[in-house]
Amino acid sequence: MKIRIPATSANLGPGFDSCGIALSQYLSIEVLEIAEEWVIKHSLGTDIPNDKSNLLIQTALKIAPDLTPRVLKMTSDIPLARGLGSSSSVIVGGIELANRLGNLNLSQKDKVQIATEIEGHPDNVAPAICGDFVVASYVDGEVHSVKHHFPMCDVIAYIPDVHLLTSESRSVLPASIPYKEAVQASSIANVMIAAILNGNLPLAGVMMEKDRWHEAYRKKLVPHLDQIRNLGHTVGVYGAFLSGAGPTVLILSPEEKTEKMVQELEKLPLSAAINVLSIDKEGIQVF
Ligand code: HSE
Repeated sequence: MKIRIPATSANLGPGFDSCGIALSQYLSIEVLEIAEEWVIKHSLGTDIPNDKSNLLIQTALKIAPDLTPRVLKMTSDIPLARGLGSSSSVIVGGIELANRLGNLNLSQKDKVQIATEIEGHPDNVAPAICGDFVVASYVDGEVHSVKHHFPMCDVIAYIPDVHLLTSESRSVLPASIPYKEAVQASSIANVMIAAILNGNLPLAGVMMEKDRWHEAYRKKLVPHLDQIRNLGHTVGVYGAFLSGAGPTVLILSPEEKTEKMVQELEKLPLSAAINVLSIDKEGIQVF
C-alpha cells in the first residue's frame, strides 16, 4: 500500500486560517512488512526521526494505539518549514495510516475533523485531504468545510532557502484587531472567495493582495513579498500572497505570463527555488 498526500498552501491572503489549496508536490508513504518496532526509511535528513517518535507514527498511534509495527518508506518533495504544509501532510498521512491499518472506516469529514484538532487550524489539512480549493471554519471545536473547483492557472512557488517556523510567524500577529478593521478584512476575504467561485481570477488576485489579517504583521519576516508583488504587477500575473506562514510566496499566473514571471523572479537577490506547480484536484490518495 502506498499513501500519497499533496503539499498545500494556506490563507491565499485574506482567507487566514480558513482557505487553502492543494498543490502538485507530494509526501509518499509506502507501507512495507510487519516488524518488531516501527521503522521509517527515508533520506530526508537526520532531523527527521526514523522510529516511532516520528510525527507520522505519533499521529497514527494517537488514533489507533494498538497498531502492529511496520517498516515504512517515506519520500517527499515538500520542503520543510517553508509554508507548504509539510507537517500537515505528515499528520494527514498518519491519520490515513491508522485508518487503513486499523480498519477504522473514517469518512473524509472525520479525517478533516481529527486532522484539524491535531493541527489547530483546517486550512492546510483540509485541502491535503480533499484536494483542490477548500474553505473551512473551526469554531467551538467543530469543523465545517466546503471543497470547490479552483480556476485553471499556473501556480509559481517562490521558495526561499530559509526556514520559518509557523510558531515564529504566528508570534508577530496581534492578539486582537479593531472591530471596523475586522469587518473590512472579512469583506475582502468574502469577495476573494466569491471571485474564485465565479472563476474570476483577476478579481480574486486583487483581493488576495489586500489581506488585513496577517500579512502586514509578517512583512518584516518576509521582505521579498512586496518585491514579488511589484514584479507581478509589471508582468501582469493575477496576484501573489504569502503561502501559509511563509516564507514561500505563491504567484497565480495565466499560463502565457509564467515564463516571464519566472525570469523576473530569478533576478531577485535571495537564494530560492522557483517551482511551477498546478492545483492537485484529488487530495490524499491510497494506491
Ligand atoms: N493559517 C496558518 C498561518 C497556516 O498562517 O499561520 C500555517 O500553519
